[in-house]
Amino acid sequence: MMDIAVFISGSGTNLQTLIDKLHKDRDVDIDIKVVFSDNKDAYGLERAKKAGIPAISIKLKDSPDREAFDEKILDLMEQYEIELVVLAGYMKVLTPKFVQKYRNKILNIHPALLPSFPGSHGVKPALEYGVKVSGVTIHFVDEGVDTGPIVAQAAVPVLDDDDEKTLHARIQIEEHRLYPEVVKMYSEGKLKVVGRKVIINR
Ligand code: GRF
Repeated sequence: MMDIAVFISGSGTNLQTLIDKLHKDRDVDIDIKVVFSDNKDAYGLERAKKAGIPAISIKLKDSPDREAFDEKILDLMEQYEIELVVLAGYMKVLTPKFVQKYRNKILNIHPALLPSFPGSHGVKPALEYGVKVSGVTIHFVDEGVDTGPIVAQAAVPVLDDDDEKTLHARIQIEEHRLYPEVVKMYSEGKLKVVGRKVIINR
């Protein structure tokens, strides 16, 4: 059984698909041990509770600095013996110490085709740039922002009459398909990081 944590800051639709498709499923050896949020009002916390998963929130403002905040989260990870951290709409950048401790054991999902449009918003900048294709990227987290080794990507068309909402909705369909697949492959030991590249042994 692989014990994982999911980090969220908002709605948690990706968390929901991970719960629905992977959590304690008979065919998949994955246990979502804890859902963590930096935002106590994140709806994803409700989704976790409904699934019987411990849902914990800690405010950044209750810590003197970012390092102390991440220390608290690291303690939580140790407490639950977490083997993989899955970021699903988590809006804080992890400290280098956290990243080093969980090297190649943290996944993130970004709503654009990296390395284009990194940062806290991927959908709007892509739309404003005028690209004809965008999509989703799932990558391992390194010390940078959205710069780690890419595991998987899926493209979607950008339509002339798209706004941020319609394009994001099209991207999310791919997110909900791809993230559970990637987490499952990780849990089966099928992902190998070689330098900047991720080799998938299907
Ligand atoms: C997703 O679009 C993800 O790519 C981005 O944040 C969004 C989270 O959505 N990092 P949700 O909370 O899972 O619905």
